[in-house]
Amino acid sequence: MIPKEKIEEVKERSSIVGVISEYMPLTKRGINHVGLCPFHSEKTPSFTVNEAKKIFYCFGCNTTGNAITFVMKKEGLPFPEALRSIARKYGIPVPEERSAAADSREPLYQALKLAVEYFSREIKAPEGRPGKEYLVKRGFDGEIASRFHIGYAPESWDGLALFLRKRGVAMEAAEKAGLVIRKKDSSGYYDRFRGRLIFPITDSRGRVTGFGGRALDDSALPKYLNSPESPVFKKGETLYGFYQARQSISRENSAIVVEGYFDLLALHRYGFTNSVATMGTALTPEQIRTIKGHTSSVYALFDSDQAGKNAAIRSLGLFLDEEVTCRAILLSEGKDPDEFLASLGPGAMREAIARAQPLMEFFLKELKLKFDLTTPEGKRRYLDGAMQYLSKVRNVAEKGHYAGVAASALGLPPEVVFSELKMPVGERRAGAGERPSRAREAGANLAEFTILKVILKFPALLDEKVEEAIEAFKDPDLKRIGVAAAGTLKGGKALDAGALIEGLGDERLSGVAAGIIFKEDDGFIEAPERMLEDSLKRVLNKGKLKESTREMIQMLEDMGISDVASDIKKRTAKTSSEK
Ligand code: GTP
Ligand code: MN
Repeated sequence: MIPKEKIEEVKERSSIVGVISEYMPLTKRGINHVGLCPFHSEKTPSFTVNEAKKIFYCFGCNTTGNAITFVMKKEGLPFPEALRSIARKYGIPVPEERSAAADSREPLYQALKLAVEYFSREIKAPEGRPGKEYLVKRGFDGEIASRFHIGYAPESWDGLALFLRKRGVAMEAAEKAGLVIRKKDSSGYYDRFRGRLIFPITDSRGRVTGFGGRALDDSALPKYLNSPESPVFKKGETLYGFYQARQSISRENSAIVVEGYFDLLALHRYGFTNSVATMGTALTPEQIRTIKGHTSSVYALFDSDQAGKNAAIRSLGLFLDEEVTCRAILLSEGKDPDEFLASLGPGAMREAIARAQPLMEFFLKELKLKFDLTTPEGKRRYLDGAMQYLSKVRNVAEKGHYAGVAASALGLPPEVVFSELKMPVGERRAGAGERPSRAREAGANLAEFTILKVILKFPALLDEKVEEAIEAFKDPDLKRIGVAAAGTLKGGKALDAGALIEGLGDERLSGVAAGIIFKEDDGFIEAPERMLEDSLKRVLNKGKLKESTREMIQMLEDMGISDVASDIKKRTAKTSSEK
């Protein structure tokens, strides 16, 4: 167990804005910082961080927490590891735990970092000549090679294994990180990468998580060898070059996505530094989200063959779901971006980028070629195909535009396609958590909501009457939050928002509480005493009325006038269920 004081120290000394900024860009807005929520799909920032309160809250999906819970969620780490990761950033020593579970990924990062050192050293060594020559032949020595730390794994069975062992790396960790492979007879380990040019792959924070290795001989199989999936390397969540490209992506407000390692290097070399690569696999939602933190405009360079076109169209749904605009660039037949740049130069690439067409437009054109639109059957299939993606377009203007394109292909008036689209398909916004909290939904609870808002901001106003009102709250969520808040606020002490949220111990409830806490900042509390007074009256009188009614019924029953009593009972039951 990490001592409580240590946890408090880490919370106290760390900056929540600093921690979260390592994962996503935040912009200052008033007293808060805002950004696009990493926990649900959105186009305008609802994710809000408050440095003073040391908590974050998303107005879209109600997710809330502190710096530690953010790291836990974002990295899928258990509490102690998330805490340690933040403590390291701020140079706060945290005593080691004996349990093996703590810090389980740290030795892997360490081994991977040392491996980069080894591969870099080797490409400069005499044994590394083949690698160096290959790199020169492909035109990538010098600045780009050092920016991407390109290295070489020599033709040796255990060069890296020995190097790591000498540096004190446990072979189990090196194996887990995918650097070495255990021999069949368990007599030792051998290097995974041999005789290959090495591309270190980093996560979005710049930590090395894996490697790609290219054979120097085109006939060698496989041409590329990647690190296997590991606790730190998830290929589908990684974009090669993102760490180097991220600032440029923000600055240019667009990203270029390619498939290959050399394609990426070529783009960076010719100044397209906002480029990232998928390492040969189909684009994933995680990868799009990584980009989306910095821009919502993507250029995807696909091969112009059928496979490339299919890949482009397959990714359309993902881009629409994530509300990222994707423009497709199809390079002239038979050329990948690296070859294209080498033979035609950056000017031609800039032109190709300028000519890029929205992926949706490209899709509709391709779709049109697939069917015979002079027949009813062809028309039906075209419309079905188009609908599948048109229904995902959220922006009305864009939706209308593409509905028009589809309509004209079918020879129909645009309204027909557009009204078809109004059918409730796929219109629901993503994420179940996006519903506004029950507390805010119910107008009837406005008074209860207001009371909480006021006392959270002005704790000195908390008195017995307020506590009595909280006891009378109808909304069970608001009541639990109110009781917890009253507990911490007693004596006019300022609210520790983090402690309140944590103390509730229920994610949904914490979200509701954070909603109130952030709402309290919106400056709309002008006359707190009066607002409180009004709301208290509403809450308490409602309760009182009920109570007096109950007393009256009791009295009538005691007096033996039970028919009148039951009539009143029925009527009050009816009015309370109607509201
Ligand atoms: P060069 O021939 O070096 O220019 O590579 P390329 O990127 O032009 O090759 P290609 O278009 O064949 O592959 C695109 C990307 O797919 C590569 O950069 C790799 O990330 C990946 N890839 C290609 N071949 C293999 C392979 O054999 N195994 C694996 N795992 N990935 C591969
Ligand atoms: Mn290539």
